[in-house]
Amino acid sequence: RVVAVIMVGGPTKGTRFRPLSLNIPKPLFPLAGQPMVHHPISACKRIPNLAQIYLIGFYEEREFALYVSSISNELKVPVRYLKEDKPHGSAGGLYNFRDLIMEDSPSHIFLLNCDVCCSFPLPEMLEAHRGYGGMGTLLVIKVYAELASQFGELIADPSTKELLHYTEKPETFVSDLINCGVYIFTPDIFGAIRNVSTQRKDRANLKRVSSFEALQPATRTLPTDFVRLDQDILSPLAGKRQLYTYETMDFWEQIKTPGMSLKCSGLYLAQFRFTSPHVLASGDGTKGATIIGDVYIHPSAKVHPTAKIGPNVSISANARIGAGARLMNCIILDDVEIKENAVATHSIIGWKSSIGKWSRAQGGGDYNAKLGITILGEAVTVEDEVVVINSIVLPNKTMNVSVQDEIIL
Ligand code: GDD
Repeated sequence: RVVAVIMVGGPTKGTRFRPLSLNIPKPLFPLAGQPMVHHPISACKRIPNLAQIYLIGFYEEREFALYVSSISNELKVPVRYLKEDKPHGSAGGLYNFRDLIMEDSPSHIFLLNCDVCCSFPLPEMLEAHRGYGGMGTLLVIKVYAELASQFGELIADPSTKELLHYTEKPETFVSDLINCGVYIFTPDIFGAIRNVSTQRKDRANLKRVSSFEALQPATRTLPTDFVRLDQDILSPLAGKRQLYTYETMDFWEQIKTPGMSLKCSGLYLAQFRFTSPHVLASGDGTKGATIIGDVYIHPSAKVHPTAKIGPNVSISANARIGAGARLMNCIILDDVEIKENAVATHSIIGWKSSIGKWSRAQGGGDYNAKLGITILGEAVTVEDEVVVINSIVLPNKTMNVSVQDEIIL
């Protein structure tokens, strides 16, 4: 049997995702019309003998309760949210719930970061992992060398695929092969995490008894139960024939900012074209509007037949899209109103916001730049004939003049 664990973090982790994370935990923000965490969860469905999916985080339980119960019913696999009382780090969080995770006596445990977007080739990883015979296998990908330092950089043996060297976000270039944040482990991982915390405890005790240390100002040490998977486990175990790599040739992105969520929404829509084309809108559907490329429209949204929509557009529940509106590369959240002849491109339009007649919300499309797209927080009103370009507007603002490259607080 196999268990999957998805690390969802907590409210202090999603700060680069503001203002969107002011309303909703980042893992529940919709990409391609589904919560971010839904994509790894539905990928887990392809794992043979999957017993349970756990989400581990330090958000309040009630924030995930509704989603977890509906997805359990839909997938027919039990999905449970486990709340940490405080952050324990990416490995410490897993260790914290080891007894529960081991209840199903799993032979393997998948561990996934919730803020990555990829095709999650999990059954393929499991097969490769069985062949290697180690304690763990990491999903890895080659990226442009200049981008690699944002991630864990690693060196793998080209023939055996063993992880030989691992450095988390190094200052000087090590390798263009990076850690995708998707892993499979045997239950031995719990022993490895325990060793890290025992070593820390021993070191802390040693310091306490040493009179020299007592005279020093307090040195910054991590709590003994705070264990990071990358620095504390992967780095020291590299080159010890315990960890192996599986390289994906498919798409992979990390989702730390709203700009990247817009890009990843498009990647998931494109994947739906192959995996579940029925969820995509089609031009000859009941909505009547002109549809270009990959578009998701929630069944409760009302779209005028003269609107033109796509590519890469997701429209959430109860949104209303007026006559002659033009939407391209955008995420339209619940209860938004786009009035007649308004335009939204490279933008995220927050819950209950409205864009007035002949108005525009427009971004330049640089998904990595801070102001590369336009983001309207919850309940923002853009009045008629106002243009908002490459700007972030915080919740509850009314825009009656045009702005460019601004953050409206
Ligand atoms: N439950 C819980 N508790 N989750 C946590 C905690 C914690 O204390 N700390 C982090 N996480 C979750 C985050 O929500 C995220 O899904 C994942 O663990 C990793 O987060 P970070 O430890 O902040 O690392 P990162 O996202 O900057 O980088 C990691 O992922 C990259 C791939 O996206 C590293 O492993 C990199 O090497 C890797 O390239």
